[in-house]
This record gives sequence, structure tokens and C-alpha cells, in this order.
Amino acid sequence: MSKESIQNPQPKIQNLNRRHLLGLSGWGAEEIQLVLQTARRFREVLERPIPQVPTLRGTTVATLFFEPSTRTKLSFQLAASRLSASTVSFSKSGSSVAKGETLKDTAQNIEAMKTDLVVLRHPSPGAPHFLARHLDAALISAGDGAHEHPTQALLDLLTMAERFETFEGLRVSIIGDVAHSRVARSNVFGLRALGAEVTLCGPPTMLPSHPAGLPGVRTTSALGDALDGCDVAMALRIQLERQDEPLFPSLRAYHAHFGLTRAHLDAHPGLLVMHPGPVNRGVELESEVVDHERAIILDQVTNGVALRMAVLYLLAGGGAEDEGAA
Ligand code: CP
Repeated sequence: MSKESIQNPQPKIQNLNRRHLLGLSGWGAEEIQLVLQTARRFREVLERPIPQVPTLRGTTVATLFFEPSTRTKLSFQLAASRLSASTVSFSKSGSSVAKGETLKDTAQNIEAMKTDLVVLRHPSPGAPHFLARHLDAALISAGDGAHEHPTQALLDLLTMAERFETFEGLRVSIIGDVAHSRVARSNVFGLRALGAEVTLCGPPTMLPSHPAGLPGVRTTSALGDALDGCDVAMALRIQLERQDEPLFPSLRAYHAHFGLTRAHLDAHPGLLVMHPGPVNRGVELESEVVDHERAIILDQVTNGVALRMAVLYLLAGGGAEDEGAA
């Protein structure tokens, strides 16, 4: 379908009645549509000659990253800046964590500097939930271990919604190291809430051992099966940092069985390719696929800024009808 066929339903709710964004588990279609619709308004702001609004002037956003990040960290900082919020940035390396300071103490000290919204990336699943119980600030998960990465999934949904008229019946295959992927889990929750059909594909060692925890999804270890009739193939990076032991004989063998190639694109003319990044060229995607016009990976990155503006705005108390929001 053409890029003009933007899915654009008006959300039936005006406000996000949530204090935090810790994951997409339990989110309903209306809440997701509110975030996507708000992100579309901010995407228009980003097209302006001066891509900034005063919406969050006087608000302070703290980004706390205990794991490496390029896209998520920079796009949250840029989103805050585009909304005229102040930002303070913490990275584990070079911090007093090396002197033994705990996560809770670190976050409470940063909050004591008067921060309103805290964005947290942490290798431990549940770390955002833990901090949310100990801070007054609104907490936004920027990825916790292999648990969830909700803003990545929301920006993925925004990117799909640009290309398809509806999520109802949309066929999305998530391919790769699903078992260790927080992106996969959040996408499953979001896509299923909106009515999409989700297939998880990977070697048996990389598929979830309890797929019942991801309701309504199909699993397969045959890439051809996953691509048959598929609208979107979302490839995942192999999360070597979360694997206790090798789950596949070699990266070359992985690519031979599960890597998306130009031949796959040629065999499936309507197929779009997504990837949350960072991409390992030649492993999950053939290099030519990364640069192909049907790979919409950089669209995902562009949408990340508007989507994170929407999340900051809504959790700061903004609503769909507020005057001057954008
Ligand atoms: N997609 C994603 O989370 O990328 P970063 O690790 O670079 O933030």
C-alpha cells in the first residue's frame, strides 16, 4: 500500500491515564492509538523550519542509561529538546556506580535535583518497575534486559501505520533471537492489541520457551514459512550479551538459515523489512537488504523522535485536545 494510506483513526480517549510507561503488556488499542496520534502531531512539528514547541518548558527530563545506546538515548534527548524541556543525562560509565552506589540511590539523587520524568535503560528486567516504586517522577522504560522496550515497539507501530491502512489482519513476522528480545515482546503486546497476526521465527534455541506468555502468536523455525504471505519482516539482532552459551553453530550458519537476503525481497514483492537496530550487516540482514528501498529502518529511527515526544508529553499530563501542544 502507498505511504499516503496513513492509518489515522481519532483516538477515543483524550488522556493517557497512566503515570509511567514500563511496558506494553496490558495496554489497550485506544491507549496505543492515542500515543500514535499524538506522535503524528509532533511529526508535523519536526517538519517545520524551527522544529521546536514550548510545550514542556520548565520540565526536566533525566535519561539514565546503564547499558549502551545510540538511537534510544539520542532520540529521547532530542525529543525533550524539541519540546523545550531541560535534560540531564547519566551514563553508567564514568559515574559513581563504580564506587558502589546502587540504582535506587543513583536515581533518588538525580530526582533530588528536581527532575520530572526519568527515562531508564537497565540490563535487569523489572528495573523500571522497581524504580517507579521509589520515585515521584514519571518513569519511562527505555529497555530493561530481555523484558520490554515499549517506546521501540510504539515507534515500530507508528512506522507500520504509515504504510498500512489497518493493523487488523496485518501479518508481521519477527525473526531472530526472539527469546532474548525485549523489542519482540513489546511488539507482540502492541501488535496483538491492535489486531495484527504475529509469527515468531528463529532457531528453536532462540524461540521463547513459554510462548503461552505471548498470547495469540504463532512460532516457526522455517524462514520460508514465516515469510509466506507476510507484510512486514522484523529482523532482530542476535543478543550475544544475553546468551549464556552459544545458541547456534556460527553466525555464518545463522545467516544461511535466518538471514534476510535480496533473494527473499525479490521472492516477496510486497514485503517490508524492519529492524530496531543496531544491525549486524551480513548476519540478520544481507548488507544489500539494509540499504534496499523496502527496508524502512531509518524511517523507524526518524519516527522515534516524534514518538518519544508524544510519550514525554502525555506522561507529563498532556492530552489529545490540549491547546498549543503542537
Ligand atoms: N533500538 C535500540 O534500542 O537501539 P539503541 O540500543 O541504540 O538505543
